[in-house]
Amino acid sequence: MPHSLRIAVLASGRGSNLAALLAARDRGELAAQFVLVASDKAGAGALHLAGEAGIPTLALDPKAYPDRRAFDLALFAHLAASGAELIVLAGFMRILDGQALAPWAGRILNIHPSLLPKYRGLHTHRRALEAGDLEHGASVHFVTAELDGGPVIAQATLPIEPGEDEQRLAQRLLPLEHRLLPATVALIAQGRLGWRDGVPTFDGKPLAEPLRLGTHGLQPA
Ligand code: GRF
Repeated sequence: MPHSLRIAVLASGRGSNLAALLAARDRGELAAQFVLVASDKAGAGALHLAGEAGIPTLALDPKAYPDRRAFDLALFAHLAASGAELIVLAGFMRILDGQALAPWAGRILNIHPSLLPKYRGLHTHRRALEAGDLEHGASVHFVTAELDGGPVIAQATLPIEPGEDEQRLAQRLLPLEHRLLPATVALIAQGRLGWRDGVPTFDGKPLAEPLRLGTHGLQPA
């Protein structure tokens, strides 16, 4: 049997990106085994979803720790103990400590709803509209200590429609996120996307530009 990548997911919210990963696995498009879904919010929809799917879950309350680093070190100790080979942040709404992240360099990804390097942080849809951008999108990047600042590996773009509001734009982007994240993780599971000396690689060569999501999946730009 081919190796299936052991994945842990961190999520703070409803978990639709987690659901998309599980659906891709169920369709046979993602050779993965989900070993843990963890959250900083005990009531997160993502935890509920994971429980229903029979995946081990963990809720850790940041208020139970003296500071951010203590929380992050505890969280990452659980992640290491889960046997995860890859950590996917799917709507995890906390900034992570550099010391906790260091051992995971190149093995931790985030999905962010903007065309990075544009609009790191919050309210990305509103900011794209306010700037009068003609297109918006989502990015998957390797996580570093810099918020939404790690190397971008894959992007999906969406034309902005005249007169649309923040909610509608977010709603139209979400289905693209649900294709982008599983497709990116699948390439990692296949060993095609990787990380060497701080640089993302694709088919063994440094990745100069993020892969682009098209009708036939992810392609080099
Ligand atoms: C997504 O828009 C993701 O890009 C952002 O947070 C949202 C999470 O949504 N980082 P969900 O919890 O996966 O439904």
